[in-house]
Amino acid sequence: MQWLVVANWKMNPGTAAAALSLFEATKKASEKARNATIIIAPPAIFLPRLRTSYRGKKVQFGIQHGHFEHSGSYTGEISLTQAKDAGASWAIIGHAERRAVGETDEDVCKQVVRALTLKMTPILCIGEKVRSASGDHLHFIKEQLRIGLADVSPAKLGKIVIAYEPVWAIGAAEAMQPRDMHEMAIFIRKTIVDTHGKPGLSVKILYGGSIDETNAGAMLREGDVQGLLVGRASADAAQFAHLVSAIEKA
Ligand code: PGA
Repeated sequence: MQWLVVANWKMNPGTAAAALSLFEATKKASEKARNATIIIAPPAIFLPRLRTSYRGKKVQFGIQHGHFEHSGSYTGEISLTQAKDAGASWAIIGHAERRAVGETDEDVCKQVVRALTLKMTPILCIGEKVRSASGDHLHFIKEQLRIGLADVSPAKLGKIVIAYEPVWAIGAAEAMQPRDMHEMAIFIRKTIVDTHGKPGLSVKILYGGSIDETNAGAMLREGDVQGLLVGRASADAAQFAHLVSAIEKA
């Protein structure tokens, strides 16, 4: 199995020099990862520098967020087109921390479509804020998928990755249990099959939320996922190296 591991550095580290040294360490660790493809999503301002300093093939680059318009009057934004030009071939879309500052499912859908037309791989993030015994969270996930994928044709589903990240497990003390992720993966596939037909069965699913070297192996073995979206443990060189060795053993 070739796992996908997305290193979402978020707004870390604080300087370009620190980003370069984190990148050097991540690169070294990644080269040992025979069974994983590593995608680094640094803060956009560091992306061109890291990309041009890299000669290898092992690591790929992603953007944490990109605007769906090519260009225009959107102060502070970076477009997916610009990110692609800077070397990003993957795009995290609709991360919970973007949704928390106002991004809607409709915005997410436009970004997914734009990323696909640019031949970038969208990593569409979904996840409920809370779980309820009555199953409201399932309805919430269904809606996020329905609207987020509304303008995506079934033929394009193979070019999309879904990252399930329950908001309550992001930046938390513990990850979700792999068996619960397994159930959620089945639910996600079934939901996409309902809207897009059979190609929904083969959509790639990642888990994200408090992944580190202690829980990555079990999640990959038992969670019915094709990879992981990693926050904190990817912004720390030593932790990321441990994580990669845990994945090697998975
Ligand atoms: P975390 O973040 O690994 O720090 O919980 C995951 C994410 O938000 O992608």
